[in-house]
Amino acid sequence: MSATSSPPPAAARDRVLSGMRPTGELHLGHYFGVLENWVAMQETMEAFYFVADWHALTSEYENSLAIREFIPSLVEDWLVAGLDPERCVIFQQSQIKEHAELHLILSMVTPVSWLERCPTYKEQQQQITSRDLSTYGFLGYPVLMTTDIIIYKARWVPVGQDQLPHMELAREIARRFNNMYGDFFPEPEARLTETPKCPGLDGRKMSKSYNNGIFLREGMDTITPKIKGMLTDKARLRRHDPGNPDVCNLFPYHELLTPSQAREEIRAGCAKAALGCVDCKKILLDRLESFLAPMQERRARLSARPGYVQEVLEAGNARARAVAQATMEEVRSIIGF
Ligand code: TRP
Repeated sequence: MSATSSPPPAAARDRVLSGMRPTGELHLGHYFGVLENWVAMQETMEAFYFVADWHALTSEYENSLAIREFIPSLVEDWLVAGLDPERCVIFQQSQIKEHAELHLILSMVTPVSWLERCPTYKEQQQQITSRDLSTYGFLGYPVLMTTDIIIYKARWVPVGQDQLPHMELAREIARRFNNMYGDFFPEPEARLTETPKCPGLDGRKMSKSYNNGIFLREGMDTITPKIKGMLTDKARLRRHDPGNPDVCNLFPYHELLTPSQAREEIRAGCAKAALGCVDCKKILLDRLESFLAPMQERRARLSARPGYVQEVLEAGNARARAVAQATMEEVRSIIGF
């Protein structure tokens, strides 16, 4: 490449960005679905992670005060899971007003039909009947999400599988802006974890509303009875019956937590009826305990530092704001405003 060729629009080629809505405590589904990747990516890339409080408002607008209460505990869970404010920028969406300005501009170029045919929009409209989601803001959820990403010119977006339709829209909206005003925003790409599925205790999707989760802030005292009560292979009625790990609710946790060799021994032991479910659960409980131990240590250290989470957010907000402001100056000039 010659020295005069213009740099690609991917000015921040290795920048990572992702967000979560402050709507509740984090569980293993969040950890293995997304957070594990967040933690890994802060090591090799420039990472921005934020609390998507405006996104929470798109559906929780009648409970806006509850959103605020979840913010510090969400950030605490992130730090406990291994995010390091020295290695990544942790911030709060609503404190960076530039997101609102770019959201407005992107809403001018986004066809309503793209939003209406978004599968997550249709699904939630049908499934969530407890509140009215036929609002302008809820329809525009993916436009706001696009804004969050491209205002930082992020290249990689570690999300859960459920967010893939939004990522597709983000790419389309960025492309449309670029077609209209000239190449400016890099097209972001989703990054999934290697094993993106962590089912709940009952085999359904892990979710607070199904009451089938293991939460990052839980201790072994509450986790143990949950694991002991799990259903395994329903056809394995007696200890000497062979079992099938592929239909067992427990085995997916071994896939996440037990190293491959030990896991294959468990699989073989189950299939030969050499290993019983009670012992298999004991092995898993040991794995869970050593997995959660460093998190519990970090949580204890954090609870000795009241005010620290707020400091992390404020420092991160300042760093994020500087980037978002710089982008918006460019955007205003590109569109001639
Ligand atoms: N929609 C995401 C979720 O519910 C949260 C989110 C908002 C997000 N803005 C984002 C994720 C930007 C990645 C990038 O999980």
